[in-house]
Amino acid sequence: MATVILDMPAPEISDMPKASTPTRTSTRQPAVVLKDIDRVVLTGFMGSGKSTLGPLLAESLGWRFLDLDSEIERRDDRSVARIFAESGEPHFRKLEAAALAALLGRRRVVLALGGGAPEELGNRLLLEQTPRTAVVYLAAPFAALMERCQQQPRAAERPVLADLAAAERRFKARKRLYERISTHTVETADLSVEQTAGVVLELVAGP
Ligand code: S3P
Repeated sequence: MATVILDMPAPEISDMPKASTPTRTSTRQPAVVLKDIDRVVLTGFMGSGKSTLGPLLAESLGWRFLDLDSEIERRDDRSVARIFAESGEPHFRKLEAAALAALLGRRRVVLALGGGAPEELGNRLLLEQTPRTAVVYLAAPFAALMERCQQQPRAAERPVLADLAAAERRFKARKRLYERISTHTVETADLSVEQTAGVVLELVAGP
């Protein structure tokens, strides 16, 4: 599996529903045409840049960008933080699984998962069994991810970051899950978001 090094700004954090997901497909000629793949799924821990990179990739492909957290918030009409606070994480995971199943049915999309989505066996099986799907793991050391997250406004309100030691335990446990479900891994330490996008497109386009 090819591994490359890159760096990108951390995604936006908010306790409010995420900004509405861009849903327009570009009318311009795509810069890259993928023949064997119908969707690109971005996975990785919080701060890995999934939501920042996704729209860029979608633009290059002339595809639609979808954000799993935004879809959950849209369907439930509550922010992720509110769902965690009012209904608990297990309920959030059920909403997440339902939203993932729905979005994986779409073609010509770049889909950013939430950092915890691969924890659920059902989600992993669904990802593995959805044909013509590239799953890209945006990897980075825990310290770098936390630094990016802490730089974001309202970082303290992100539910999984409330307890840093617990977040690190999650990170360690999830690493092997991210690796298991991904078709490509990119180390996100030293490149710009544009470089990241270029590398991801190269990887998913194949030889
Ligand atoms: C979570 C990550 C978040 C969001 C929720 C839970 C996690 O998504 O789904 O707060 O368990 O790591 P991002 O990875 O997009 O921040």
